[in-house]
Amino acid sequence: MEPDFWHERWARGEIGFHQHDFNAHMQAFVGRLSRGPGGHILVPLCGKSRDLIWLMRRGYRVTGVEISEKAVIDFFAENGLTPDTSSIAGGRLFSTASLEILCTDFFALEPGQLPRIDAVYDRAALVALPPGMRERYANRLTALVEPGVRTLLVTLDYPQHEMRGPPFSVPPAEVYALFGETCQIETLHSEDCLAQEPRFRQKGLTALSEHVLLLERAA
Ligand SMILES: C[S@@+](CC[C@H](N)C(=O)[O-])C[C@H]1O[C@@H](n2cnc3c(N)ncnc32)[C@H](O)[C@@H]1O
Repeated sequence: MEPDFWHERWARGEIGFHQHDFNAHMQAFVGRLSRGPGGHILVPLCGKSRDLIWLMRRGYRVTGVEISEKAVIDFFAENGLTPDTSSIAGGRLFSTASLEILCTDFFALEPGQLPRIDAVYDRAALVALPPGMRERYANRLTALVEPGVRTLLVTLDYPQHEMRGPPFSVPPAEVYALFGETCQIETLHSEDCLAQEPRFRQKGLTALSEHVLLLERAA
């Protein structure tokens, strides 16, 4: 999905991926991210996710990366926050004391543009990307973090021929193929979630499961 696809989705308000509630898997498993409260967490392709707020309240410093300026502006407005803004290479930085969003292309991000990252949270980022972009995403993410950094990844698994993505089906086996050489991977949780997803049932899905994986960047 190229940037224009997402800019149009945001302009038309087609953001069915956006959750009003805090993500239950994040709340259940955030404790497995190594350094705990006070660390700095990276949230790639963050949209206007309210999970950023939950993580901030939990004591994390939070850096989101999002290409849509509308998403970023909406995020701060809807959460009653007034960010400082400044120009950065390829975009703009929106920042408050403990939460910032780099409004830029994640694929162009260089490690020097980020603070030291202690953990990563990916919900609806990897699965937003078509097959050809996932390896680039995995390589970029790996390049942006140091050995020992853990990623909490929520992924989806469904018969891809039954629905066009995004979100795409990225089963655990594909996560192992993408990250297995650079990370140790543990499956924390798997569940059948078709019953809770009427919008996907309406699109024709007959099976849908969600997997929560913990990736630890190897040395
Ligand atoms: C499926 S949404 C998920 C948003 C968020 N993670 C959530 O849980 O609500 C994917 C987001 O990635 C953003 N995005 C897509 N490509 C991007 C890129 N190359 N760099 C930064 N953000 C991107 C889109 O604008 C969109 O907001």
